[in-house]
Amino acid sequence: MSGKDTSMTASFTTPALANDFFAPLKARADEIERRYRQATPVSQALFERGGKVFPGGFTRDAIVRSPYAPFFARGKGAELIDRDGRRIVDFWFNATSLPIGHADDRVVTAVSEQLGLGSAFFGMTEREIELAELLTARLPSAERIRFANSGSEAVMMALRIARGFTGRNLLIKFEGAYHGTYDDVQWSVGPSPKLFGDARRPTPVPDTAGLPGGDGRVLVLPYGHTELLEEAMAMHGGKVACIIVEPMCNRIGLVIPPPEFFQAARRLCDTHGAVLIFDEVIAFRLGYRGAQGVVGVTPDMTTLGKIIGGGFPVGGVAGRADILAVSDPHAKNRVAHAGTFNANPVTAAAGLATMTALDEAAFERINTLGAEVRRRLVEIVKGLPLTVTGAGSLFKINATAEPVTDYRSAITADAAWEKLVSQLLLIDGFMLTPTLHGCVSTATRPEHVDGLLAAIAAIVRS
Ligand SMILES: Cc1ncc(COP(=O)(O)O)c(C=O)c1O
Repeated sequence: MSGKDTSMTASFTTPALANDFFAPLKARADEIERRYRQATPVSQALFERGGKVFPGGFTRDAIVRSPYAPFFARGKGAELIDRDGRRIVDFWFNATSLPIGHADDRVVTAVSEQLGLGSAFFGMTEREIELAELLTARLPSAERIRFANSGSEAVMMALRIARGFTGRNLLIKFEGAYHGTYDDVQWSVGPSPKLFGDARRPTPVPDTAGLPGGDGRVLVLPYGHTELLEEAMAMHGGKVACIIVEPMCNRIGLVIPPPEFFQAARRLCDTHGAVLIFDEVIAFRLGYRGAQGVVGVTPDMTTLGKIIGGGFPVGGVAGRADILAVSDPHAKNRVAHAGTFNANPVTAAAGLATMTALDEAAFERINTLGAEVRRRLVEIVKGLPLTVTGAGSLFKINATAEPVTDYRSAITADAAWEKLVSQLLLIDGFMLTPTLHGCVSTATRPEHVDGLLAAIAAIVRS
């Protein structure tokens, strides 16, 4: 798979006509919300109850939906049952983290066995070595690995290790990229056009209140623009500790830039003594050797999460032995890394069962199915101001006729329209994100895909 064939587009004509297309559905927003509430009274009641203990009703921003998120009772394979007793086909699998579906028997058995033996110890277990051996054998950049409890923690540790290794502070991240909730990466994740400044030199915009400031710590660049990365490294290279980049940028429509971009990042890090970090918290699901196996560039460090925990909280920092050596507890000036639940044996058992099931043939199956979904979506949206993007087992419909390549092209999409389509799909029993991101798992069956595509066609062609 190259950068070229991973992103497919079906484009349309002028913005005025695009407005004509999006407006009728948006005019139905109240009616759609009424239908959602009617279909989900139990979720609504639970959300109201949760509102008394959670600020605004939520304890996890990523799942926020208006007027409220669905509450779930259980899941098996690719299907969920919500608290209203409705069957919902899952096309997001807890933010891509369940590549073999919900409650897979192999995972349930492995976890149950481990639970019977004890769920956490003030010491080590063989399970964590087994998971580490599996991951380091697959991932080209991974000579050593350390486990954490979330992708955010993995990113935090990777940045600290890169800074410890280089003795420098500045990190480069890309506009529109989400790397979790650590202070130094919550810059320009979804910046407002009023604040984001020059397209060639974006102004770093805080994504949250409460950040201590990014001066001298964070440089934001446009995603996928090789010449601007070269220019920035020529100017600041000697101060740069690391470049952190998603090989496939989730928030920019699951797009993969051309290989030259990653080759340039590799070369520039080598030239200037900076560390190249691939954030594969999501992108690791692109292939047996991760996204780095797909783009053909080996970073110095890789951050992991989601699928490697088999449905349990997890994170991982993998990379060159000499770099991770700064986190050796016996090293002088070491980078400290503790965590009560790091390498938890239940997580390790679930991760091992999942990643073992996810062999090369399984990756081939989900990627083939993902490509089929994208191909059929392109057919469905032909002639409409919609663009289909994605790679591997992932897909996204963008409410824009513009090719989506970076943050500023991605935000030409009509987010309100995407949200309403997602809500209609949820009413129909299909779960994508409010931004119409989706993915398949090994548990996704042809009838699930047929059902989703028929529901999308009925909405966009009505
Ligand atoms: C690329 C990327 N990095 C880091 C994270 C943070 O992971 P977590 O939610 O496990 O903290 C995410 C979460 O979606 C992500 O997509």
